[in-house]
Amino acid sequence: MKSIKDTKIGIIGMGYVGLPLAVAFGKKIKTLGFDINKNRITDLKKYKDKSKEISEKEIKSAKKLIFSDNVLDLEEYNFFIVAVPTPVDRFKIPDFTPLIKASSLIAKILKKGDVVVFESTVYPGATEEICIPVLEKESKLVYNKDFFAGYSPERISPADNNNVQDIVKVTSGSNIEAGKYIDSVYKQIIVAGTFLVEDMRVAEACKVIENTQRDINIAFMNEVSVVMEKMGIEMRDVLAAMKTKWNALSFVPGLVGGHCIGVDPYYLLHKAYEFGYSMEVSRNARIVNDGMPKFIAEKVVTKMCKNKVNPAKSKALIMGVSFKENCADIRNARPFDIAKELKKYSVEVDFYDPIVDKKEVKTVKKVDLIEKPNENYYDLIILAVAHKKFINMGINKIKKFAKKDSGLIFDIKAIFDKKESDLRL
Ligand SMILES: NC(=O)c1ccc[n+]([C@@H]2O[C@H](COP(=O)([O-])OP(=O)(O)OC[C@H]3O[C@@H](n4cnc5c(N)ncnc54)[C@H](O)[C@@H]3O)[C@@H](O)[C@H]2O)c1
Repeated sequence: MKSIKDTKIGIIGMGYVGLPLAVAFGKKIKTLGFDINKNRITDLKKYKDKSKEISEKEIKSAKKLIFSDNVLDLEEYNFFIVAVPTPVDRFKIPDFTPLIKASSLIAKILKKGDVVVFESTVYPGATEEICIPVLEKESKLVYNKDFFAGYSPERISPADNNNVQDIVKVTSGSNIEAGKYIDSVYKQIIVAGTFLVEDMRVAEACKVIENTQRDINIAFMNEVSVVMEKMGIEMRDVLAAMKTKWNALSFVPGLVGGHCIGVDPYYLLHKAYEFGYSMEVSRNARIVNDGMPKFIAEKVVTKMCKNKVNPAKSKALIMGVSFKENCADIRNARPFDIAKELKKYSVEVDFYDPIVDKKEVKTVKKVDLIEKPNENYYDLIILAVAHKKFINMGINKIKKFAKKDSGLIFDIKAIFDKKESDLRL
């Protein structure tokens, strides 16, 4: 194993996870940020992060960091970190294609003594079952003799102002020596400290269970929100009352989208099936959370009908299309699913979001975002995402977009006081 002074870090995948890590390491250790997306690398070479997570100043401050889309530039590096996507396919089965491709790419430049650490979220065992065989076969090197591996889950949460340095980093290695080395490398940047575990599968399990636990907790809140609605009880009042107990959990109902919480549980479910176990709680949590867009649309349409507004002749405005507040990420963003449900009732839907990349929305979701909502125009306004920009805009301005006297406001995240909206979750 090399010493820290001889360690050179190559990070594969310059996305939400890889870039902050590259910037943190690049302040201290020679680091190369690699991505197969040429446009991403061109932007980063100009210090531009399209996802708006890392400022130009921050990227510039990483003096030992360079970017490249040429795999051969990684040749002189010896400590590789993999942070590529781990999606599911349309049957919700883990799709390991990016991890396999990244492993294959590293295999081309892997040398004796190198270390490969995986950060992508997977199920326990995936690193050794899926990635290591690719590295071994294509590099012709022997695992735990010629090269070593590790797994260290990433726990950042985009737009939450939590830096990678400030979150305890769980680390692990393919043997005791590799574990200690990997841990010492991360210690160079992680101010909050590291937590070295003996078994790579523990580190893998830790991350996927954290996210599944979150999914389950939100699902329970969504489930009770549906029941409270049926009983005519205001859910947010219940939550406020619950909060007075010292050990009440602070979860709230809402949409679960994005690349992590709405996806990672499927990895765990998939692996459990292999052991003949169906994780019913986790599986049903996914069903409940995925059902929320339909529930929201039905709640709205019912209210419209009660108010003698014909949904088929109505216009709706969805405010916020990212998966999360103050974040530009539109992967698995549920506001689009609400629109899909509303369209079943022939509701005409406009989308407004001042944070996300309009071109990306057009390319990926085939949706044209409006520049600015018209005033006195909409029968329904759905405040789907609690962007600070909407909070600062204030409810009075938002209400002006709605038709005077008849326009409904659905404040999904209960951003504003309950008397200001007609519907909430
Ligand atoms: N986004 C988050 O908040 C977050 C938090 C913790 C963990 N994770 C996990 O980390 C992993 C990465 O997530 P992300 O949000 O950074 O994804 P991302 O889509 O933002 O970034 C991934 C990057 O990898 C690149 N890439 C894909 N295949 C590649 C390959 N073969 N070689 C090199 N680059 C390749 C893509 O071009 C992209 O730029 C996932 O497993 C995710 O579940 C994400």
